[in-house]
Amino acid sequence: REKEFKRMVPHIADVDPQIVQAEKRLAQTSPFRQHFHIEPASGTLGDPNGFSFFAGQYHLFYQWSPLAFHQPALWQHGWYHLASPDLVHWQDLGPGMESDTSYDCHGTYSGSALPVGDRLFLMYTGNTWNRNWVRVPYQIGAWMNANNQVKKNAVPYLTGSPAGYTPHFRDPKLWHHDHHYYALLGAQRENLTGTALLYQSTDLTAWRLLGEVQTDTPDFGFMWECPDYFEVDGHGVLLFCPQGLSADGNFFNNVYQNGCFVGEPLNYATRGFHHGAFQELDAGFDFYATQTMQAPDGRRILSGWMGISEIHYPTEQYHYSGCLVIPRELSVHHNQLVQQPIRELTSLRRERQTVNQIGPGTVALPYTGQVSQEFDLTVSLAATQTVTLDFRADVLNQHHTRLTLDRGRQLCTLDRSQAGLSFAEQWGTVRHRRTPLGERVRVHVFVDTSSIEIFIGDGATVFTSRIFPAANQTQTFVTSSDGQAQVTGSIWNLA
Ligand code: FRU
Repeated sequence: REKEFKRMVPHIADVDPQIVQAEKRLAQTSPFRQHFHIEPASGTLGDPNGFSFFAGQYHLFYQWSPLAFHQPALWQHGWYHLASPDLVHWQDLGPGMESDTSYDCHGTYSGSALPVGDRLFLMYTGNTWNRNWVRVPYQIGAWMNANNQVKKNAVPYLTGSPAGYTPHFRDPKLWHHDHHYYALLGAQRENLTGTALLYQSTDLTAWRLLGEVQTDTPDFGFMWECPDYFEVDGHGVLLFCPQGLSADGNFFNNVYQNGCFVGEPLNYATRGFHHGAFQELDAGFDFYATQTMQAPDGRRILSGWMGISEIHYPTEQYHYSGCLVIPRELSVHHNQLVQQPIRELTSLRRERQTVNQIGPGTVALPYTGQVSQEFDLTVSLAATQTVTLDFRADVLNQHHTRLTLDRGRQLCTLDRSQAGLSFAEQWGTVRHRRTPLGERVRVHVFVDTSSIEIFIGDGATVFTSRIFPAANQTQTFVTSSDGQAQVTGSIWNLA
């Protein structure tokens, strides 16, 4: 690994442009390039970072390593920067921060952003390893002006981890409350359990450790990554990514988890947080490292990585991987965090087909002529009926991504075993989620070249997954267990 580090070039601008261009060209040859999801021109995309509204625009960065798949390994790591007036149309602003100081030389890791006066304050974790390969994290501040120029502070706020915690200490999430700034960091206790540490600052020059958020979970995974705290609909929500939860029936089937505790608002004086059971945010296969921000109109909006570390995606043969999920608006219904696609996405809608299908056996839904599509369907379900929806299917319906709605068992199932190129099969190919299913169920689906995002009902059940179908998998079929499938709604081509 020492040899690898010697080959590190902190700034992508200092790498031979021919290498950079060749990597981008190779990525462009992929049949799996997305149409309306953010993905990297080459290399890896990971966690969304610095998600904020500043100087009249939304800003969104992502964990980025543009030459991660180049041979021989050339290693850059930073935050890639995008901005948008509407969370749908994004301007490419290039590298936002790169790993160019001794405090972040082995990774400009995740962090967040907060507008302060006429600048955007960024806080992130600088990852380093010392000579003995011991990790030393730094928590670092940086300021971005309205021209999108970022200047890192010369000196980090925090060096290493506080007493009682291991060097797994990262991913500051910022907010402002009652004349104070707060940063919430993911941490690992010395007994190798995960937690979140709350820091406070009055002036953004010094940060004071208040202590752990007092949850009811002394032993819940070995590390919490990307913690986030916010209040929505009068509830406190602690959203984080616990690593190391064992699979439990239909829960925790992915490599690492992403979910939340919904509770009473955090008591800042005691850090007490009384909450219900952990809610896995997504029931699909590829969903991690979420980050939220508050839009100017008050909505709480979520971004996330449609991927998980340790999974290898078929796009890697084209030297890139990862994309972000579509932005989602969060709210709390009956103490459960629910997600809905943001309404701005309707601006992507183009040609529309109306669906009004009642069929014996299997019915084919109209094909709109391209694979990037939105389906807003209402499926009728008799008392014990099971209806399957096959997306990205071939004409014989031998290959498809299958959603099953089983009203009798009150169960939704996503099966990607026949979706196309197979990958990550050791983590299973089927996911189930118990869901209240009534006589009519709304199934709202966003399909892109190589992903599917399914919102069921009020958004309490969402399945998010990468899929890698062949180009001829363009059909949609609906099949009912008792012969009468009834589906109404619309399908749009998406720009
Ligand atoms: C989560 C994570 C973060 C870290 C970043 C590094 O996916 O491991 O904890 O800051 O990715 O890329």
